[in-house]
Formats: sequence, structure tokens, C-alpha cells
Amino acid sequence: MKYTLSLDEGTTSARAIVFNDEGSVVAVAQKEFEQHFPKPGWVEHDADEIWAAQIGVAVEALSRARIAAKDVAAVGIANQRETTVIWDRTTGTPIGPAIVWQDRRTAGLCDRLRADGHEALIQQRTGLLIDAYFSGSKVAWMLDNVPGARAKAEAGQLAFGTIDSWLAWKLTGGKLHVTDISNASRTMLFNIHTGCWDDDLLKLLNVPPSLLPEVRASSEVYGDITAGGLAGVPLAGIAGDQQAALFGQMCFEPGLTKNTYGTGCFMLQNTGPTAVASRNRLLTTVGWKIGDVTSYAMEGAVFVGGAVVQWLRDGLKIIRSAEEVNALAATVPDNGGLYIVPAFTGLGAPHWDPYARGTIVGITRGTTAGHLARAALESIAFQSAELLTAMRADAGQPPVEMRVDGGACRSDLLMQCQADLLGIPVARPEVTETTALGAAYLAGLAVGVWKTTGELAKQYRVERRFEPQVPADRVAAMAAEWSKAVERAKNWATP
Ligand code: G3P
Repeated sequence: MKYTLSLDEGTTSARAIVFNDEGSVVAVAQKEFEQHFPKPGWVEHDADEIWAAQIGVAVEALSRARIAAKDVAAVGIANQRETTVIWDRTTGTPIGPAIVWQDRRTAGLCDRLRADGHEALIQQRTGLLIDAYFSGSKVAWMLDNVPGARAKAEAGQLAFGTIDSWLAWKLTGGKLHVTDISNASRTMLFNIHTGCWDDDLLKLLNVPPSLLPEVRASSEVYGDITAGGLAGVPLAGIAGDQQAALFGQMCFEPGLTKNTYGTGCFMLQNTGPTAVASRNRLLTTVGWKIGDVTSYAMEGAVFVGGAVVQWLRDGLKIIRSAEEVNALAATVPDNGGLYIVPAFTGLGAPHWDPYARGTIVGITRGTTAGHLARAALESIAFQSAELLTAMRADAGQPPVEMRVDGGACRSDLLMQCQADLLGIPVARPEVTETTALGAAYLAGLAVGVWKTTGELAKQYRVERRFEPQVPADRVAAMAAEWSKAVERAKNWATP
């Protein structure tokens, strides 16, 4: 039996999962780490804490699987994307907190770039829209705001990376400063057509090229790990977590589409070798590169998905565990006219409003905690349905089913609501750890655990399929109400 280890470094926790060569989960270990919110709209992580959590769970997962490093054929990384770390090349110490993808502090800089007319160029080169979400403006902010950072960067003393680069650096004791092309495609500094860092964009954001990691494929042996507990195992797969999930859902053919219900919701459709430009404010991104072949994807990103349930638990405290939301939502037959727009960190696709904020509309004397729970679940489904509407308008091939994964896809109520709003079947696979599975597959392919994607596709099994049940005119009426609520949330926190 050959084992593959995935390091799935997400927004709220570091996970490590051991897979066997049938693509089944053998052992899981997970550790949450702290979220820092130093100012409204700011979100930070401690990169050293992430590293400690990640290596800790990796060792724990091996021990739970009762295997040692020598039994692991390869390690793959799937990571929260865009989150930006800059560290000192000599000491390996981060120059400050990591700025998380959700952080809105650079919205003003992005407004200026837009006002100066750079949106068309940036969209054309990177496939992205100008938004504080992506790494580029976060790098610029750090260089301009951390004392001494710019001078050190210009002297070549600093390294920038998204979390994949940071982990690769730490895993190899500073030998590797690499990223994979799917992560590079989220920086707003990378030309997705040429596969190179873009000099014009680096100049525009005033980012010295010496900071940048080398961009590599998503499935190749990058080097051997030296960190204790995993020493000697090749690091052989890297992808942004959403691209890894697309891979783990075995969406290898153009048109196949998945939606992941994590902190946010991320809907990606494989568009094959073509980078399809969106006319409906979606993103064009790199799915993965294997050998010389780059596969592209179209993406809709919603910033708060499953996190709205966390807010019910930790903010409102109307549930004690995330699972309880289902029972509470089931105490009411419908949302009673209540809509929650969880624009806690602005709105992503297709609205892209960094100044939107969370809004609840339709409260009456009859509103109960059950309605709040139901509206929270529905908000996840409504936001995802907006993504599919844009994708249908953009894509040559409207998806025929939605493959789902991520924590919140365990909610039958949410998945049924999602099928109703999408109007296509929702397919929940047996292995819902698809993000980690994707990274395991990418790593395993590089070292020969698996030979082809065709071999992997045979491992795809659906656990349950949810068919749409609500008539289209009723769905349209609900979607119209939702859109009205979204309009109320927009443009709230303008400076
Ligand atoms: O783009 C952000 C995304 O990669 C975060 O994913 O799973 O941590 O919510 P997740």
C-alpha cells in the first residue's frame, strides 16, 4: 500500500490527511489557529503559528495512521490562497503578520488603481478584477507600512509567498522558495497567458522582482522535505485549495464544475486549455499545470459561506455547534421573509463591493432564531446561485450538475435548497475531503502512485444526489427578494 499525505492549510485550521492509493482517507489530524482582527475589515494570521500547527498535525496524522515518513510516497499542499507572507531570507522570520485573503485594508489602493484605468489591463493579463482580495496590493501595503521593509526588499533580503510558498520554505529548511502556478494566478502580479510574473504589474504595484518565488507546475517533485517527522519525503504537489478541490472532484474535463462550502464558497468550472475571459465579473484562473499542460478554470468567489454558521455560533450564540444549525432551521417551514446577506468582509463575485457589510432584512415580530438559522443557510445557497447565473452567462458549457464539498455540504437541508436554487442536481461525493484529496492526487501523480487522471476518475463515487424540487417561477421570486436584500447591503462602509 502506498500512502500520500496532504497538508490542507485552510483559513481557520491546519489539517493533515493520509490517503491510501484508492483515494480513501486513512487518518486525519486538525488544529485550529487564531484569527486576528486588529481593526474593522482587517484579518491577520501568524505565519509561525500556521507552520507550527501544520507540522504538528502532519506528524499526528502519520501517527494516527500508524505509519512513518518512509511509508509516505509524497506530500502535497493545498492552501488558503492569496494570504500574503513576507519573511527575511536569512532568518526565516516573517516581517509582520500574514495579511489574510479576507482583509480589506487595501481597498483604497484598489480604488485608485481602478480610477487610474488599470482594470482592463489587469483583467486581461491576470484574469482577475482589481480587488483587495488578491495578494498584490497586500504585498505593496507591507512594503510601504512595515518599517524598513522596502529597503530590505530592494536589497534582495526578503521573500514573498502565499501560504504554499511559506510551507514549502519551512518544510525544506529554506531550500525552496517556490509556488505553483495556481497560487501565482491569485496574486494579481502574474500573467496567466505567458505563465510568468508580469513586469508591468510589478512596476504598477511597486513590487521588486527579487521578492518573488519561482513558479512551478502543480504536480512535480519540488524537493525533499527536511523538517522533522517528514524528513526524506518528496514534496510533489502544490495547488491553491480551490483548484485542489476541483482536481479532487475529478473535474478533469471542460464543463465539469464544483462548489466548495468552506469559510467562503468557491465555484470553479474547468475550461480546459482555454483561459475564458469573463464578461460577468467572474475570475479566470489557472486550475493546475501538469507537465507542460496548463488547465484553466472560471471561478466565482463568495467571501462568507460556511462562516455565517460560525457567526451564529460564536457571534450570536444561538447554536452551540455548527451542526445544530440544521435542527434550528428545521423548526420553521421557510425563511418567513427574512434574508441575511453575510457581507461581513464585503462582497466578492459577482458584486465586488469591499464596502458592503452584513445586513438582515425582513425582521418582524414573528421572526425567531429558527428563521435566522434558515436565512443563514439560505444565504450560502443564494450567493452560490448568483455565481452559477454568472457562469451560465459566461460559459460555453453550462454545468449539468454541481459537485459539492467542504464542511457545510454535510447539511442535507442546505444541499436540497442549493439544488432548488441552482435548478440542476447537486452531487455529494463519498469523499468530501476533496481539497486534500486533490493535493494528494497531484503529489501522487508526480511520483507514480497514480499514472493518469483517467485512473483517478475511476475513484469518483457519489454518496447522494439532490434533485431540484421547487418550480422555476417560485425560485425566480425568491431570487428577486434576495437581490433586493443584497442591494441594501452594498456600499455601507464607504470611507
Ligand atoms: O481564496 C480563499 C480560499 O482559498 C480560502 O479557502 O477553504 O480556507 O475557505 P478556505
